[in-house]
Amino acid sequence: MYSEQQIVEINFLCVHKKLRQKRLAPVLIKEITRRVNLFEIFQAVYTAGCYLPKPLCTSRYYHRNLNPKKLIDVGFSYLPRDTTMARQIKNYQVPKETFIKGFRKMEMKDCKQVLKLLNDYFKMKNLEFYPVFTLGDIKHWFLPIENVVYTYVVENPKTHLIDQFVSFYNLPSSIIKHPVHKILNAAYLFYYVPKKFDENESPREGEEDISIWEGKYLKELMKDALISAKLADFDVFNCLDILDNHLFLDELKFGRGDGSLHYYMYNYRCRNVLPEKLGLVML
Ligand SMILES: CC(C)(COP(=O)(O)OP(=O)(O)OC[C@H]1O[C@@H](n2cnc3c(N)ncnc32)[C@H](O)[C@@H]1OP(=O)(O)O)[C@@H](O)C(=O)NCCC(=O)NCCS
Repeated sequence: MYSEQQIVEINFLCVHKKLRQKRLAPVLIKEITRRVNLFEIFQAVYTAGCYLPKPLCTSRYYHRNLNPKKLIDVGFSYLPRDTTMARQIKNYQVPKETFIKGFRKMEMKDCKQVLKLLNDYFKMKNLEFYPVFTLGDIKHWFLPIENVVYTYVVENPKTHLIDQFVSFYNLPSSIIKHPVHKILNAAYLFYYVPKKFDENESPREGEEDISIWEGKYLKELMKDALISAKLADFDVFNCLDILDNHLFLDELKFGRGDGSLHYYMYNYRCRNVLPEKLGLVML
């Protein structure tokens, strides 16, 4: 049964390294709970790399190498025995320009269209757990800010309407004890809406399966996201295996990571959700 509920999303729980294992995390959790309750909100969703009882969903991280030499130098990835650095660089090269006509940075004037696009997309996908955005959310989370969030829309050249969008955010990691490299520039895939299946455009015979077309459109959009991330000097592009991400991971050369991300709900009993039925992007 479909139900919509106001809940909070908790992210970035962090205790200073020197203060760990002193049970400060439960104090922080109690205090944030008190503050959230004051707004008459009693449920939350949160994620963690560690296993706590009991996840709503467990998803896996995937990584698309954009800078093989640096990733190998710093030990994020390794050079397979049967290849050379030159071949590895060639393998992960991306084009210098995006492909999709009308692909451009999102602007303030696009917010209303992006709101409708995203909320309609989630409804149409038959997901089991997903956020419902407000116009305020769209402005806050998606309007591009250099070094924070990168959002691109596709303005249809004929209608001038926005019919696709893709977004990723910047979360750099410190590289400890490396003589040259201090920062790993990592982009994380955020929300997206690919082009809708258009009956007029697709030849019918042998291609009746709409999901093939959806996968094709999503791959094209993600390819342009990777190119944009490379142009913005990111070393790696990360994503989870939630939503329809499984449709592009192999073809666009994402590698399966070691890390999982567990999703949890606070004060809400809910059955397990498969990653492809989950629409909530968190860290
Ligand atoms: C996650 C973090 C705050 C936990 O702090 P800590 O000093 O290791 O743990 P504390 O001694 O303060 O607290 C331990 C309790 O917190 C719980 N806990 C640990 N991590 C948790 C998490 N991510 N969410 C909720 N509870 C958590 C433990 O289960 C334990 O409770 P229990 O004894 O009832 O099982 C700390 O390890 C950290 O800052 N890590 C880096 C950031 C991070 O990974 N954040 C996770 C969310 S993205």
